[in-house]
Amino acid sequence: MTSHLDAAIEISLAAGNLLRYHYERRIGFELKAEFDLVTEADKASEKLVVERLRQYFPAHSIQAEEGGGGESTVGSEYRWYVDPLDGTTNFAHGYPAWSVTMALEKAGELIVGVVFDPNRDELFACEKGAGAFLNGKRIHVSNVSKLSSSLSCTGFPNNSRKGNPNIHFFYQLAMETHGVRRGGSAAIDLAYTACGRLDAFWEIGLSPWDLAAGKLLVTEAGGDCSTMRGEAHAMNSPDIMADNGLLHDELIVRFSDIFRGKLRHQIPAAG
Ligand code: IPD
Ligand code: CA
Ligand code: CA
Repeated sequence: MTSHLDAAIEISLAAGNLLRYHYERRIGFELKAEFDLVTEADKASEKLVVERLRQYFPAHSIQAEEGGGGESTVGSEYRWYVDPLDGTTNFAHGYPAWSVTMALEKAGELIVGVVFDPNRDELFACEKGAGAFLNGKRIHVSNVSKLSSSLSCTGFPNNSRKGNPNIHFFYQLAMETHGVRRGGSAAIDLAYTACGRLDAFWEIGLSPWDLAAGKLLVTEAGGDCSTMRGEAHAMNSPDIMADNGLLHDELIVRFSDIFRGKLRHQIPAAG
């Protein structure tokens, strides 16, 4: 019988290769909502992932972004979270930052996570209690201990973007750190936090399939995950903050000031 991690790796690599095939042919996209894109590739990748998961683990439940999992076999203690293409906007514009990601939860606890980036041939994988790995080599979070010396990353939702307060957090951190990136694939952003390329990541309004694998990667690589207010992070939390552990307290204080409106930015008048 295939182990959960082996299956997740095998399926992610196959889905990633399928996505690469579509990417090289620059196929078009449809709009799910005003700024929410979906391509043939999202659907083809999800079909592949769901079919193989059903073949290997017929009793497991599957929550997949495009609805292909249908939350089958509700009641199973195992649940897969699948984002068959994380970074569809990048993908549709030919910008090489997108991934396939999947994670397995057992009785409410994440136990396996995989993020595959076909553009760099980078496979991030982890299993609860066994550490996190990039292409088979152990990875660790960074050791940057001051927010002012950090490089972090965030994202903005495809839907309900206008009501999202994240621009205030983005602005403040961009003003007082080495920089804030907006990568466009939350799964890659979290994987980069796990391997120390980024020191922190946060986002408001992600879905469980965007962040499940990355969350386990970060904690297995020695980092912290919580909400942006410092509470324990759950799959239905409104936001997530992941960091190397050393920046955690400073980030919580900074974010708390921004939440309270103390540090909302004012754009100076021109001239
Ligand atoms: C999106 C990406 C992006 C994040 C958005 C997500 P999708 O996922 O992860 O980085 O900022 O909030 O919706 O739609 O490309 O799978
Ligand atoms: Ca996603
Ligand atoms: Ca997606």
